[in-house]
Amino acid sequence: MTTNAPNFEEFSLASFLKQLDASNFHVEDKPQYLSDIASELEGNPKAVLFNHIHDSPYPLCGNVAASRERIAKAFNTSKENLLFEVAARLKKTGELIQVDSHQAPVHEVIQKGDECDLTQLPIHLQHGLDGAPYISSSMDVVMDPSTGWTNVGIRRLMVTGRRKAGVDLVAPSDLRAIYIEQSQKGKRVPVSFVIGSSPIDHVAATMRIPTDELKLLSALRGKPLGVVKCITNDLWVPADAQMILEGYLDEHGHTTEEGPYGEFLGYYGGVKKNPVFHLTAITHRKDCIFQTSTISGAEMSKTDTAQLSALRTEVVVYRALEIAVREVKGVYADPASGGTFNVRVALKQRVPGEAKSAIAAVFACMANVKHVYIVDPDIDIFSSEQMEWAMATRFQADKDMIFATGFRAMPLDPSLQEAKTTAKLGFDLTLPFQFGDDARAMTYRVPKAPTYSGDKFDSIEAALQDGPKFFQELMGAISSKDGREVIRWLEDHHNSQHIARDKEGKYFIQP
Ligand SMILES: Cc1cc2nc3c(=O)[nH]c(=O)nc-3n(C[C@H](O)[C@H](O)[C@H](O)COP(=O)(O)O)c2cc1C
Repeated sequence: MTTNAPNFEEFSLASFLKQLDASNFHVEDKPQYLSDIASELEGNPKAVLFNHIHDSPYPLCGNVAASRERIAKAFNTSKENLLFEVAARLKKTGELIQVDSHQAPVHEVIQKGDECDLTQLPIHLQHGLDGAPYISSSMDVVMDPSTGWTNVGIRRLMVTGRRKAGVDLVAPSDLRAIYIEQSQKGKRVPVSFVIGSSPIDHVAATMRIPTDELKLLSALRGKPLGVVKCITNDLWVPADAQMILEGYLDEHGHTTEEGPYGEFLGYYGGVKKNPVFHLTAITHRKDCIFQTSTISGAEMSKTDTAQLSALRTEVVVYRALEIAVREVKGVYADPASGGTFNVRVALKQRVPGEAKSAIAAVFACMANVKHVYIVDPDIDIFSSEQMEWAMATRFQADKDMIFATGFRAMPLDPSLQEAKTTAKLGFDLTLPFQFGDDARAMTYRVPKAPTYSGDKFDSIEAALQDGPKFFQELMGAISSKDGREVIRWLEDHHNSQHIARDKEGKYFIQP
């Protein structure tokens, strides 16, 4: 670690919001009750900053990462290139810069012990049947004693008291494994939750890569990350965050009732037993913005979770396919499916059978992926219209479908109906394999409006003497504006010039 002070504003939540225009961001200046926030955010295509929340000293921001366009903006790239940008940045090693408490914006205000109170924060009820208001944008930071690395995730907190919350640790995760190991030894797990972050940090937090995950934030930012030591535990957290909730998970195991909660698959999860988080300090910026993430709702693609989960799925699938088949042109996990279950892959096959190899690789690389669609690179995987067309015209159910069962499942999947393992289905939507693009038979080529490009000639005869030509090439050859003179010339010279057509329909002069 070095001691140069990093720029604390470049990746702050406030700076990111300033980059957004009106098509992506709404500032609400009317005072709002917390009870109205969920309905304002549900299905809203924009990020919203509620400047005045009744009885809250802090503004509240929501839906920040709930669109691919906004996440791409944070990475300074396009929606289409987002996966490749993230995958490239993940190959770099991040750098941490330790800063003193007095330098860290997130230590501008410090509340300890009885001074801190979760019920003073703008935390709202997110779904009608939720067990209580939840903190949903909370990035957890924990030290893994077995590696000495910092583990980072995003985990919701159900607020059950002024300094107590239930944390969801049911699904398999690194934090769950760390917690179970420590609590079984009768030990507490110090944890700090980071609130108010750029989408880049949330993308990093969803990755499960065996490394020090704080460094992933730096790698994805493409800049060193300034970290500051917490006041009441020994963890280091991003110094440019809006707020930190410091504390620990107690040693008593999965004891508190957490839930129900509107889950990221678009259904409720029931009441579960989960560990208890105890709050020991709150630190924050003077001008702190509190953050909430949308998790469930009628339109999954307009939630933070589906968009962030989609990118994580794409990264995992892409990394597996890079090894399995090589020429992957794109991966898209449709956020409408929650960003995990349905995955589209554009693949340039090098040899016959690669589409099916790709299906097998995707089945194996992630529990959450159930349905895999492999298409040729000419299909736009971001377009449901194009995918429908590929399914309709490039797929035969008796030979292009791969079905397998008995895989590790995502327990929240309602379609499991209590089963412990899941079935998977792959759709090979590619055209029959051909070596080289030009070898595609006419009946597999995609009609497009004529372009009239190609070489120019003084006459149709000269063009045909150059070689066989399609009608559009003959029009282009003599810069014809309507093709009529080409028809007339072909009729007039059909016999005298021995005009014929080859099997693709090109005109040529017979020798
Ligand atoms: C907005 C959001 C909220 C999330 N909430 C939870 C949660 O409450 N519980 C959980 O197990 N995973 C949750 N996740 C997924 C985890 O953050 C993700 O699996 C992460 O990789 C886990 O980290 P770990 O395996 O390093 O501990 C959430 C993801 C997002 C994007």
